[in-house]
Amino acid sequence: MRSVLVTGGSGRLGRAVLEALVEAGYEVRSASRGARATAGGVRWVVADLTTGRGVAEAVSGVDAIVHLASAPYKGRYTLRVELGGTSVLLAAAREAGVRHLIYLSIVGVDRVPWGYFRTKVRAERLVRDGSVPWTIVRATQFHEFVEQAFRGMARLGLVVADPGIPMQPVDVRDLAAHLVSLLERGPGGEIEEYGGPEALTMAEAARSWLRARGLRRPVLNVRIPGGLGRAFRAGHLTTKARPAGEITWRRYLGGGQR
Ligand SMILES: NC(=O)c1ccc[n+]([C@@H]2O[C@H](COP(=O)([O-])OP(=O)(O)OC[C@H]3O[C@@H](n4cnc5c(N)ncnc54)[C@H](OP(=O)(O)O)[C@@H]3O)[C@@H](O)[C@H]2O)c1
Repeated sequence: MRSVLVTGGSGRLGRAVLEALVEAGYEVRSASRGARATAGGVRWVVADLTTGRGVAEAVSGVDAIVHLASAPYKGRYTLRVELGGTSVLLAAAREAGVRHLIYLSIVGVDRVPWGYFRTKVRAERLVRDGSVPWTIVRATQFHEFVEQAFRGMARLGLVVADPGIPMQPVDVRDLAAHLVSLLERGPGGEIEEYGGPEALTMAEAARSWLRARGLRRPVLNVRIPGGLGRAFRAGHLTTKARPAGEITWRRYLGGGQR
C-alpha cells in the first residue's frame, strides 16, 4: 500500500504522521477544511467531514486512510465529526475500494465514563461494523496535549493535579512511526493499544513540566470526585501493551531528543 490519505493531518498527531509517511516513501495526501499548498511531499486536498464536501475526491485512488480528524469538546460538532464524519468517510472509502483504514481512539474509552470517550466508542463501532478493512489504535495522551492542559491551568495561577492518577503520555513521533508500521502490516481487524514508555502520576508530570519550563506555580493536589476520578485512579488511562513508545515525558520536555 503506497498511497495514503491522512484526515486531521494538520493536527498534533497528524503533522508527525505526515512526516513519517513521507520519510517512509509513501505517496501522501492530507485532507483539511482549509486550502493548503502542497509542501514537504504532502498533497493537500480540501475536505470537510461534517458536510461531506470533497471527501469522495480526497479518498479517490488511495490504498489506505489514517483517520485522525476529530473535534473534541465541541458539543454537537464533536458528534458530527466523529460519527457523521466517520460514516461519510467509510462510505467514500468503501466506494473507492480502500484496503485499510486506521482509526485513532484513546486508551480507556470503554472504561472511563466521559462524554468524548463514549463518542469515540461509538465511532469505533462504526469502523468495526463497516466494510473497509480496519485497525483501531487506542493511544494514551499525547505529550503536547498534556502540556497544553498544564499551560492552560498555569495561566490561571496554579496547576491542579490528582496525585493518585497514573498517566502514560506518548510522543506523537513514536506513535506516528507505529502507525506507519501498521500500514506495512495491513489491517488487523482488532483494537490495539499504544502508550508511552512509562507511567507517572499527574502531579509528578505537572511538577517536572513546571521545572522544565522555568515556571513557579503551586501544584494543588485535588482528588477528582465521582466515577470519573475512580476510573482515572484505577489506571484506565494507561496500558501494558507492547510495543510502546520510547520517548519519555522528561525527554520530550528537554527538547524531545532520543
Ligand atoms: N490529543 C491526545 O492526547 C489524543 C490521545 C489519544 C488519541 N487521540 C486521538 O487522536 C486523533 C488526533 O488527535 P489530535 O490531538 O492530533 O487532533 P487535533 O490536533 O485536535 O487535530 C484535529 C484535526 O481534525 C481535523 N478536523 C476537525 N474537524 C474536521 C472536519 N469537520 N473535517 C475534516 N477535518 C476536521 C482538523 O483539521 P483542519 O482544521 O485542518 O480542518 C485537525 O487537523 C483524534 O482522533 C483523537 O481523539 C488524541
